[in-house]
Amino acid sequence: MAEKFIVTPWEVTGDVDYKRLVREFGIKEIDAHLLKRIEKIAKGSHHFLRRKIFFAHRDLDWILDEYEKGNKFFLYTGRAPSGHTHLGHLVPWMFTKWLQDKFGVELWFQFPDEEKFLFKEKLTLEDTERYTYENMLDIIALGFNPKKTKFLVDTKNANLMYREALKVAKKINFSNVKAAFGLTNETNIGGIFYTAMQAVPAFLPSVLAGKNIPCLIPHAVDQDPHFRLSRDVVGKLGYYKPASIQCRFLPALQGATGKMSASEQETAVYTIDDPETVKRKINKYAFSGGRDTVEEHRKLGGKPEIDVSYQWLAFFEEDDKKLEKIYTDYKSGKMLTGELKQILIDKINKLLAEHQKNREKAKKKIGEYLVKG
Ligand code: TRP
Repeated sequence: MAEKFIVTPWEVTGDVDYKRLVREFGIKEIDAHLLKRIEKIAKGSHHFLRRKIFFAHRDLDWILDEYEKGNKFFLYTGRAPSGHTHLGHLVPWMFTKWLQDKFGVELWFQFPDEEKFLFKEKLTLEDTERYTYENMLDIIALGFNPKKTKFLVDTKNANLMYREALKVAKKINFSNVKAAFGLTNETNIGGIFYTAMQAVPAFLPSVLAGKNIPCLIPHAVDQDPHFRLSRDVVGKLGYYKPASIQCRFLPALQGATGKMSASEQETAVYTIDDPETVKRKINKYAFSGGRDTVEEHRKLGGKPEIDVSYQWLAFFEEDDKKLEKIYTDYKSGKMLTGELKQILIDKINKLLAEHQKNREKAKKKIGEYLVKG
């Protein structure tokens, strides 16, 4: 029987069946042929693609066709500031950075600071303003090129955005939004309007340039309902329909319960966590595919498929050979859970040490990224 799971932009629970999502959302899997084509044009390979962490798309083949004809696209992604950044958030951004470098393209990064204010009872606009700043530091720390990266903050760039949002909003009615997002009659009217704001950066660069520019949106798959809805609308407004490329969720430390939740501190590792906290969280919570006793583990071997430390390494250990050796050693029983966890702890702490250094430096750079107007 099909397991129950929910994936909407505001809720992800249960053990996500990605094959089923592909069918239900009407997105396409990235097949071997398309993968090769991306790698050829990008002149490089990314482990998120090789491991099917980025696994699906809309119109990516068209984006590559246009690129090969000399018609460059721009990238668009975003982050609704509702708390500190955790490792799961970094996944699509790391990949976006790779795309920016490989294709030499602009990135428009949206901070819809009204979104979670509207959808979360307790969050104030002051909170979301503070988190906008904190989240910006994480994005800059990943090394996006300031000459090619533009930050749009919904409440600050309303002058530029609102006019375009109106054009989108006029073409979407309440029942469209209800169906796409599972909203109800009790949803506040700001929440009903919001998707119009998330559509805007997909064509705003075309508006500003006075010519049509293709748009590619890298995002976690829960955001797809927004773009499924707005693709047609953006097309009707006379712009290219935005293309997209979608990734899976980094599992919560406790295992198959959907994506990491920023509201549940202990299910996630934050970019500002210190090495001791990282060690404690992983040792205490990371769901283990190991056996009950060392003897049994040596005899039967571990289960990397359900082991969260192993799964996290599949996201963050770039070296295929190293990862494969970890897999076989763990599966054969040669490697114990404690050893596997230690490998992950070292990996994450190394990544975060570098990230935190860059995050400090980012404090002086924010001005270079903000869109004026
Ligand atoms: N809604 C997203 C979030 O909750 C933020 C966002 C805005 C976004 N625009 C986007 C995400 C484009 C991916 C792509 O964080």
